[in-house]
Amino acid sequence: MEDAKQLEAFEAKIASGQKIEPKDWMPEAYRKQLVRMMSQHAHSEIVGMLPEGNWITRAPNLRRKAILLAKVQDEAGHGLYLYSATETLGVDRAELLAQLHTGKAKYSSIFNYPTLTWADIGAIGWLVDGAAIMNQTALARGSYGPYCRAMIRICKEESFHNRQGYEIMMSLAQGTPEQKALAQDALNRWWWPAIMMLGPSDDQSPNSDQLMRWKVKMESNDAIRQRFIDRTVPQADFIGLTIPDKDMKFDEKTGHYTHGPINWDEFFDVIKGNGPCNAKRLKARVDADKKGAWVREAASAYAAKQAKEKQVA
Ligand code: 3HC
Repeated sequence: MEDAKQLEAFEAKIASGQKIEPKDWMPEAYRKQLVRMMSQHAHSEIVGMLPEGNWITRAPNLRRKAILLAKVQDEAGHGLYLYSATETLGVDRAELLAQLHTGKAKYSSIFNYPTLTWADIGAIGWLVDGAAIMNQTALARGSYGPYCRAMIRICKEESFHNRQGYEIMMSLAQGTPEQKALAQDALNRWWWPAIMMLGPSDDQSPNSDQLMRWKVKMESNDAIRQRFIDRTVPQADFIGLTIPDKDMKFDEKTGHYTHGPINWDEFFDVIKGNGPCNAKRLKARVDADKKGAWVREAASAYAAKQAKEKQVA
């Protein structure tokens, strides 16, 4: 039974802006919410390596290839920080990965869309990393210490990812008519999924109330989506691309852009596993896990041998 006094002290600590650390008392619901959200986030980082990894061998020149390689490696690093941060809550990484591999765990809807052309790499950096940063700079101000600290580091790297994506789009938009058309086509295909990746609208977001009360989430899904739109539409205008939303307009009274209806049926279908690449993404992760088993076994055997030798010495 949770102690009312402990709960009160926990909530007072959060209200005063202090961080909760792994050994502090926390309600079981807080721990569970964090494990759910942080593990989904970790899975998103490593599944997110797949659509971009697809273009490493086909990057248009050495500079672009080196940048993309570094970016995909950064995403692997983000996955590692986040799995480690999740382990501070007493859950085993192998258990989390088993949930991913058996299709029980969620990861971001956005990574279930295909990367059909080089311009998609620009669109991912600009829009997907742009939306991710919008969300994660808010999460960095949250209440759970290990998650917030991971977010600070991750956001610094994501800012670079975001700029490199916009720079790819800018170069294409200033190129030949065919290159500009590639950039516009990528924007047309990634815009709506990027808007959706920030989560369902607030009236369909069952976790938001509890997460915001405990300052895990600092802002609602719709508030972050609006900020992302307000920042991104002028960026599209600046490079001469058109947001694929005929209802998008700037409202002088509110100072915000208003957008057309979002196809939430598509979103819920993708998170149920029916997106264009869900099966492919899951298979790639399961295969990678199987292929890497011997490396993990060898590393464990070596660590055990080292520990034994240390004991004898
Ligand atoms: N994809 C898949 N599932 C999603 C989703 C998305 N884009 N958005 C929401 N969902 C799921 C939720 O997980 C929840 O399912 P569950 O209760 O079964 O776990 C359900 O839909 C209802 O949504 P809620 O709004 O109630 O969920 P949350 O309050 O957790 O908000 C969130 C969703 C805003 C994504 C929040 O979980 C969050 O901020 N997570 C951490 C950040 C994150 O995971 N980002 C993913 C992208 S990371 C990335 O892009 C990598 C980078 O390198 C680019």
